[in-house]
Amino acid sequence: MTPDFQTSLRIGGLALPSRFFLAPLAGYTNLPFRLVVRPLGGLGLATTDLVNARSLIEKRRQAFELIETRPDDRPLAVQIFGTVKEELCAAAQLLESIGVSIVDLNMGCPVHKVVRGGGGSAMMREADKTVALVHALVGSVKIPVTVKMRLGWDDANISAPFFAREFEQAGVTAITIHGRTRAQGFSGSVNRAGIRAVVEAVGRIPIIGNGDIRTVEDARTMFAETGCAAVGIGRGALLNPWIFQQCEAALVRGELVVTPGYIERINFMVSHYEMLQSFRGERVACIQFRKMSRWYGRALRISKATQHRLVMLKDAAGFYGLVAELRTMTPRPETPVKHQEPHIPMPSGPNEQW
Ligand SMILES: Cc1cc2nc3c(=O)[nH]c(=O)nc-3n(C[C@H](O)[C@H](O)[C@H](O)COP(=O)(O)O)c2cc1C
Repeated sequence: MTPDFQTSLRIGGLALPSRFFLAPLAGYTNLPFRLVVRPLGGLGLATTDLVNARSLIEKRRQAFELIETRPDDRPLAVQIFGTVKEELCAAAQLLESIGVSIVDLNMGCPVHKVVRGGGGSAMMREADKTVALVHALVGSVKIPVTVKMRLGWDDANISAPFFAREFEQAGVTAITIHGRTRAQGFSGSVNRAGIRAVVEAVGRIPIIGNGDIRTVEDARTMFAETGCAAVGIGRGALLNPWIFQQCEAALVRGELVVTPGYIERINFMVSHYEMLQSFRGERVACIQFRKMSRWYGRALRISKATQHRLVMLKDAAGFYGLVAELRTMTPRPETPVKHQEPHIPMPSGPNEQW
């Protein structure tokens, strides 16, 4: 069931360099992160954070910051969310007019702020309205339109196969499936049989399997058990930005996976910090980097005390001082990757309250 890795995957007319995609993680997989990940190799497609369609057409600064890109940040899809057909179409047309190559519609976000207005995963509860909206969206632009969704609202409403079939008819060119329901949030494990049912529901468009891929072996299993055409990797890429390159080496070229060393990981962290600082300035870079401290702490296997200093990061001098110390330290022994879950803040508790 694995795809022919020697053949390049196309979304609409766009040939992609690999079948290993970066799944969007709002607040993390932004332009500075993408620009430091891409040179590591192996990345087939990245997607921006979800952007409110209305904010885009109202030309709000924050929305334009989210879609900021550069020529070396390709291929890139811009992800939009909303509920009003006219607004989504206008946002897609605006994106097309400024040269965006793919528009991705978010139908998977479980967060209260998004679903209370009927957006994100709530669209999976309104079959007729959503199908009509997707028809209109596809018809409004010439560039490929893709969709990212979950398996359904809850276990009693597994609607992804239905929507996938309808969307293919409407002209959607690829669909990413996060193999959980909205009710599951981020808990439990990903349901690969559920993703497979979506692959079987469509005729020819590529399905991108997503959820819980942390290693090359996880990616291999996702391809083998679902028959998906590509995989989307989110949290796994925060912990190991080399995962795309490793997937390409192992799955495409049949080579052994090379694990980056401690110093390489520090160098990556420095590049990431510097990229953030060059875009957002020292103060914002430090604030944003505090959020990343947990997973850099895990990836570098640093002590709690050192990690705490990263969490409290105030300025560039503090960052470089810490890096200088880290370079002289002996890394602690590696723990299995499954136990290194990057603790990024995620919605938790009863999901009505997210
Ligand atoms: C902090 C966070 C932010 C996310 N932001 C988005 C987003 O903006 N758009 C989207 O479609 N999915 C978003 N997701 C979902 C991921 O793209 C992905 O579907 C999910 O994390 C499962 O994949 P993973 O196990 O590889 O991370 C987000 C997930 C997390 C944890």
